[in-house]
Amino acid sequence: MDKKIDSIVLKENNNVKAAMERIEKSGVRIVLIVDDGRKLLGVVTDGNIRRSLLSGKNFNTSLGEIMTKNPIVAKELDSAAELLETMNKRGIQEIPIVNDQGILVDIALLSDLKNIPLSSPDITKKEVELINQVLSTPFLSIGPKIKEFEKKIANFVGTKYAIAINSGTSGLHLCVRSLDIKDGDEVITTPFSFIASSNCILFERAKPVFVDIDENTLCIDPNKIEEKITKKTKAILPVHIFGHSCEMEKIMEIAKRYNLAVLEDACEALGGEYKGRKVGTFGNAAVFAFYPNKQITTGEGGVIVTDDERIAKLCQSMRNQGRDEGDSWLSHSRLGYNYRMTEISAALGITQLSRIEEILEKRQKVAENYNKKLEKIDGVKIPYVSPEVKISWFVYVIRLDGRFSLEDKNAILQKLTQKGINCGNYFPSIHLEPFYVKMFGYKNGDFPITERVSNSTIALPFYNNLTEKQIDYVCDNLNSAIRELKK
Ligand SMILES: Cc1ncc(COP(=O)(O)O)c(C=O)c1O
Repeated sequence: MDKKIDSIVLKENNNVKAAMERIEKSGVRIVLIVDDGRKLLGVVTDGNIRRSLLSGKNFNTSLGEIMTKNPIVAKELDSAAELLETMNKRGIQEIPIVNDQGILVDIALLSDLKNIPLSSPDITKKEVELINQVLSTPFLSIGPKIKEFEKKIANFVGTKYAIAINSGTSGLHLCVRSLDIKDGDEVITTPFSFIASSNCILFERAKPVFVDIDENTLCIDPNKIEEKITKKTKAILPVHIFGHSCEMEKIMEIAKRYNLAVLEDACEALGGEYKGRKVGTFGNAAVFAFYPNKQITTGEGGVIVTDDERIAKLCQSMRNQGRDEGDSWLSHSRLGYNYRMTEISAALGITQLSRIEEILEKRQKVAENYNKKLEKIDGVKIPYVSPEVKISWFVYVIRLDGRFSLEDKNAILQKLTQKGINCGNYFPSIHLEPFYVKMFGYKNGDFPITERVSNSTIALPFYNNLTEKQIDYVCDNLNSAIRELKK
């Protein structure tokens, strides 16, 4: 049962004060009264409490005396649209949901249905406790939690080294530098990604050379890489987009044949696998990111993983103003940056990582629920997952089929926003970003699959605790928005 509901459940013999405390703490304006078998007996709202106090009752009055018996309830199988209709008709903002035996199973809140964020971190008491512990030590940076987090990440991914940094972008930058990619070098990568995977190449004045994507996996198409290799090519930078691994066997084979480095952008894919092997373990180095929309978060942050001692030592030094191990605070062996992660972030990361299996399972369930609902909607393609891949769900991205134009997609996005459903436009084609057009002269039609995909994808709200009712609400509204276009 959802933790939210447990915090607002009381018994008949609890008193008014207990109900007021629950309402104050939960922010939900109702408590649910159940018997020992969790059968719903009634509800107590802040209105019930006000009226009872005005009529001479007091804090010690038992809830059984003041509750509304036989409240309006919804049934487990009621759709989100039915719930909303009842709420609107009855002028209420919350409805308990019961099963056929009248046992309480959930509560639907109007606020949950009407404002669904695109993503939401899953922070428990455990995270807060460890962060509080760190705050009571003198180590807020460069301390034991960073080392512990790095050890645990390396252990989870299966690499010798892990180097925590303050963002995925800074991790990618350090990797580009440690692979000695510089002015005039070329790096083969994908135009369908978050822009940092390409910008990190520009940071060192090297050139991102784009290769179009595979229409199914949405990752770089390995069959098109070789034709882009020149004498200047130094590395391949594949991106495991939306948590779905690239075809790493083919990519590694090409890299080996042409003696190219491989830097995996695994920012979106912690826990993902390709042919039973974790992403992040294929290339010379890889980067994971921990912004709050990611599988696990450190607020801002990321980690570089590698088996290569030289890369690890260089990255450790460069993230810390170029200090080598043993250097004093004011000696700097090389050019460096302040890309350090704080101890507070590391503590958050340690706790989140300790819950990674639970988190990945929750995300898998949310994706399955979406799949079940959306498979039936004409015009929508659910995300593809290759049989060779274990996806680590980062976002849930659908595609509209060929009948829909970019204008249609934008109209659908607008309709969903009006309904309080926050969607993402993941991802616009990088090569068509104005400064890429200006620098390299790219134009529409250069990477047709990427452009087609960019124009037809919508990231739906997706996070660990997205409820089935919220998924219903999103899917029902998506369906209506599509049907209104009458394709
Ligand atoms: C594919 C990819 N690369 C790089 C990054 C950059 O990570 P950060 O935002 O932590 O700098 C992200 C972040 O969303 C990403 O999705």
